[in-house]
Amino acid sequence: MTDRNDGPAPQSSLAGAISRRRTFAIISHPDAGKTTLTERILRAGGAIQLAGNVRAKGERRRTRSDWMGIERDRGISVVTSVMTFEYGGCVFNLLDTPGHEDFSEDTYRTLTAVDSAVMVIDAAKGIEDRTRKLFEICRLRDIPIVTFINKMDRESRDPFEILDEISSSLALDTTPLTWPVGRAATFVGTYDIRNDTVHTTIPVEESDPRMVQVREELELVDAALPEFDRESFDEGHLTPVFFGSAMKEIGVTDLLDALVAFGPAPRAQNTESRTVTADEPQMAALVFKIQANMDPNHRDRIAFARVCSGRLTRGMRLLNTRTGKSFVLHTPQFFFARDRQLAEEAFAGDVVGIPNHGTLRIGDTLTEGETIRFTGVPHFAPEILRRVRLDDAMKAKKLRQALTELAEEGVVQLFRPQDGAQPIVGVVGTLQLDVLQERLKGEYGVSIGFDSTPFSLARWATGDRTKLEAFMMANRSSMADDLDGDPVFLASSGFMMRRTEEMNPELAFHDIKQIG
Ligand code: G4P
Repeated sequence: MTDRNDGPAPQSSLAGAISRRRTFAIISHPDAGKTTLTERILRAGGAIQLAGNVRAKGERRRTRSDWMGIERDRGISVVTSVMTFEYGGCVFNLLDTPGHEDFSEDTYRTLTAVDSAVMVIDAAKGIEDRTRKLFEICRLRDIPIVTFINKMDRESRDPFEILDEISSSLALDTTPLTWPVGRAATFVGTYDIRNDTVHTTIPVEESDPRMVQVREELELVDAALPEFDRESFDEGHLTPVFFGSAMKEIGVTDLLDALVAFGPAPRAQNTESRTVTADEPQMAALVFKIQANMDPNHRDRIAFARVCSGRLTRGMRLLNTRTGKSFVLHTPQFFFARDRQLAEEAFAGDVVGIPNHGTLRIGDTLTEGETIRFTGVPHFAPEILRRVRLDDAMKAKKLRQALTELAEEGVVQLFRPQDGAQPIVGVVGTLQLDVLQERLKGEYGVSIGFDSTPFSLARWATGDRTKLEAFMMANRSSMADDLDGDPVFLASSGFMMRRTEEMNPELAFHDIKQIG
């Protein structure tokens, strides 16, 4: 797609800089080709030396990004990182998400920091489980979705069948903006529907059977599918669809050109009191992730903050509106796959890393002084609850500190029973427990084991203060405080939970806590 008329204006103003930002994530089911596509995108964006470093699967693909033993041993990607590159006059921030579903909470939080998502679908498999789950999160947040149907160089389903599946199973309108030229072994490129151009690896004549097929099928597309509608896309009701092969580097620039052309640029974000638009002059940022040990030689803790409005500059004084404390931003950093550099300035849409010693938490809002708090960063009720068993009782204090730090980072959720019993950790997937165990040992020298608990559910309890206190008194052995001191009711079963809800209609029990 070469039509850039609807793309960003080349302005140097704040609004111009912001309109050139494209902050997105890739969502997919494992094996659909997210890693390959990420590499190709970075390569197209000129970050060619980085391509090949993204992978973290298997020996051959080992890279420095495997900073953690567990990642190396299991060949999975645990970290969420951000990759910044320029393409087509835009500054792209690609937020990577962990591949393994045990780290889904991280992924969900990352999705709160993007303006769009690219949904990668394996052309032979169609919509798979995890794609659907991630799609649902995007829908909850009205995140516009661009679809990339990958692996067209292999035997695949019929394009119409895939489009049909997207619209029926996700209730999402589809508008193909390209069409495959050839299939499987004869797949050689794409036809750009809006601009009537072909992007093929070999010259293909109009008389070529592949082009004849394209023309015939496009008549059906015209008749059956809606035109691309920008508003509908922005609202998350319609997805533009691209066909390609990440492996063969086909269709990748179609996708990037589309993101340049119709973004979306950084969106407005809600706070408890008002909506903040990206082009407001005052800077406001939201911490959506904390990461320790990015560099194994230098123990540090980085808060990843998305700039939501205005311009951030190095040396500026920022207010953390949760604590009311301000600090000088000495060393904000940009990330390029695994490399980083000092960020002198950043604009709404950008993601900066802020080194800190535990003063920043997930959900924190940073401003130039205004006391607003962004909403929408979720904590999900954990699906697995375990009591931490300390091997060496002398290390109790150390364990307390370590658990707090790791919970602040979002490795696990921490619940302190109100009756003073040993802390309980909550996770979505068991791999998180392995990470906790390994990091406690490796970084804090504390060995732990896990014991089962009588609890299988955790729910945040809210309601009238007096009633809540009475409830907590009556259920002391099932109550815990989370990291922020908010009360959590622990239930032994779904049945118990429902009963408790019925018996306490004046209280509410939540499986999602919005932080920030
Ligand atoms: P993921 O991050 O979504 O898990 O997927 P990844 O990119 O690792 O791709 C999964 C497998 O699919 C890889 O094969 C990769 O090479 C292959 N693949 C990705 N894109 C395409 C494509 O467009 N066409 C074809 N034919 N294959 C594709 P693998 O066998 O697991 O690894 P490898 O040995 O090929 O690297």
